[in-house]
Amino acid sequence: MGERIYHTPNLERLLTYSPELHVLDTPEAVDRFTADQLIGQIQRKPNSVLTLPTGATPMGMYGLTIEAASNGLDVSGVTVFNLDEYWPLPEGHPASYARFMDENFFDHVSIPATQRHIPNCHAASPHAEADRYEALLRQRQVDLAILGIGPGDTCHVGFNEKKSGRRSRTRYVELDPQTRDANAQYFPDSSEMPRGAITQGVGNILEATRVVLVAKGQGKARGIQRTIQGPIGPDAPASYLRFHPNVTFIVDREAASLLQ
Ligand code: PGA
Repeated sequence: MGERIYHTPNLERLLTYSPELHVLDTPEAVDRFTADQLIGQIQRKPNSVLTLPTGATPMGMYGLTIEAASNGLDVSGVTVFNLDEYWPLPEGHPASYARFMDENFFDHVSIPATQRHIPNCHAASPHAEADRYEALLRQRQVDLAILGIGPGDTCHVGFNEKKSGRRSRTRYVELDPQTRDANAQYFPDSSEMPRGAITQGVGNILEATRVVLVAKGQGKARGIQRTIQGPIGPDAPASYLRFHPNVTFIVDREAASLLQ
């Protein structure tokens, strides 16, 4: 049996929530607004547990958060669980998400190494590594999860590609061809691009107290429309966020351009 698709309007109304949607004029405004969500969370709760993303989308958010930290925001109590990581890659590979996080965030702020978590891209077994990560996640309540959304109509969150279930947990997954195409730019030698990854599941993400999904540019317009206005189900894993009572979508005008 596949995952059930919820498309009956009345049933949807009973089970789902209308996410808060912010459509901002520019990508820079999205960066500022998203950074303010992250910074505000850390100010309110200095020992926040965060799920954080990689990719092009959050770069501005990280830059602004680094700026806030250099102006006195204390991030030393924060714990971070990254959403996902390629598998397999050699340790320290330039396209690994561990490297991304070091270069774009961790090297510039004072979050102790023991409070930063990311799946190990060079673990011997991706399944054992996923289980290790899942066990760590289960010990903590994530206060805020910040997510991007996949390219085209993948509607992936983390690397939860199509067919991911609402209750899926941290696991090894194969990447969708659209994801591989979009991310090939980060692998100058395409033969180095892994076919898979370790990702937090949709179920893990839905357990965060608050979820923020961020999207910028025309390339995300179909995914945003499908996620917010299409049927909820495994064909669009991001659509499961509509089962969460505290979700905020932050998008620019281009990413919102297909919303009706
Ligand atoms: P991007 O990736 O921010 O590089 O567009 C987002 C994602 O694939 O989830």
